[in-house]
Amino acid sequence: MHYYPLSPTILLMTEKYLSTDSYKGVRDFYPEDMAIQRYIFSTWAKTAERYGFERYDASILEPSALYKAKGAENEEMVNEQTYTFIDRGDREVTLRPEMTPSVARMVAGQRHELSFPLRWYSIPNLFRYERPQRGRLREHCQLNCDIFGASHYTADVELISLAYQTLIDFGAKPDMFEIRVNSRKLMQEQISDKLISPDLLPDYLRLVDKKAKISNDEFIKEEKKLIKDGASVAIVINDKVSQVLQGLISLGIQNAKFDSTITRGFNYYTDTVFEVFDVSGENNRAMLGGGRYDNLTEMFGGEAISGIGFGMGDVTMRDFLETHKLIPEYIRSTAPHVIVIPMTEEENMPAELIAQHIRKAGITVSTDIGIRKVGKKIGDASTRGARFIIVIGENEVSSKQLTIKNLLSGEEHTGELGSLMNYLDVK
Ligand code: HAM
Repeated sequence: MHYYPLSPTILLMTEKYLSTDSYKGVRDFYPEDMAIQRYIFSTWAKTAERYGFERYDASILEPSALYKAKGAENEEMVNEQTYTFIDRGDREVTLRPEMTPSVARMVAGQRHELSFPLRWYSIPNLFRYERPQRGRLREHCQLNCDIFGASHYTADVELISLAYQTLIDFGAKPDMFEIRVNSRKLMQEQISDKLISPDLLPDYLRLVDKKAKISNDEFIKEEKKLIKDGASVAIVINDKVSQVLQGLISLGIQNAKFDSTITRGFNYYTDTVFEVFDVSGENNRAMLGGGRYDNLTEMFGGEAISGIGFGMGDVTMRDFLETHKLIPEYIRSTAPHVIVIPMTEEENMPAELIAQHIRKAGITVSTDIGIRKVGKKIGDASTRGARFIIVIGENEVSSKQLTIKNLLSGEEHTGELGSLMNYLDVK
């Protein structure tokens, strides 16, 4: 018989079946990934709540106008990075690429009912049509923390200290990351008269924002198009940024510094801007970014409400935690505390009854009703990280005498289920 490397029938079959890959740039969360994701989200939520932040949420669908309105606009984002479509009722809809316009909309919508200052947080999933790469995907989640209605610099200090504390609560040491602070107002004060025209400021800030991603020659070439001939740009720290940094030092935060290359990509930022970087060199993307946006709610009418906030991404967060080995081993284990193992299918139902009894005591338990050999089932329970197993055979069913085995210590206890329950209640 002659074998072809890939027979015409197989070729036909591969065309017939769908790929098991997910859509480009988004993630599937298999149980271990999900366990890590939940750990990240719960740590975020705990820290934010310790700072008195209240949780809110919104839909992933927003009218596209929200991202095009004056004040919110970000050309690169709107023209190149949003998932936008027309719905069946002819409305232009966008999958939210960020949360800030949504939260500004919500706050403006209830401005008369809310009492300021507001401290709100959320953990939305966001969609951006970007080139997928390390630290950048097409769907990511972000911890968003924002303070509305507090324009004093202490709000800036508090918010940056919350960002700092979030990383510390994951077990990070201050020398693993750096907080870089700048001010758009400061840039405006010191750059405006050097620009060919003052309305080129947003272009200049965007160019500086891209500085680390382009070559020096390209930067100089682009800068020449914006800066007057012969003008030299030297940015120095101002009082506001000094106050913020001093405030952070007085709270015990030593790893924040002034950095005039931090300008942020969004035009809605008006003053303080900041980003946090991993200093290991493994992750060159910012882990979080934020700033003060004093006019964003203006687009909904009425007097503007000042806001300051940040977004911290889960993709960069996980990269950071893995680089610094900060994910505790127990987090990855998704196994139940107890696994009841029937020896044959005959014992499947008795095993379910035992599991049901254990579950009622609030202990996580499952049964291995697969058809593998008992030895394999036991080995699997152990590699999955279960703490206890109970093997059920004919004898156990007839005598009602069960043996629980502690997989960690090897210890065994035999008796009726009721008398064994307190052994299972070990963390
Ligand atoms: P952003 O700098 O665009 O700011 O995003 C904040 C963080 O989200 C980034 O530092 C990064 O960790 C993560 N991130 C952004 N894009 C992606 C992506 N494509 N894939 C993975 N992670 C990503 C904002 O979105 C502002 N709205 C934050 C804010 C809240 N400002 C005030 N309040």
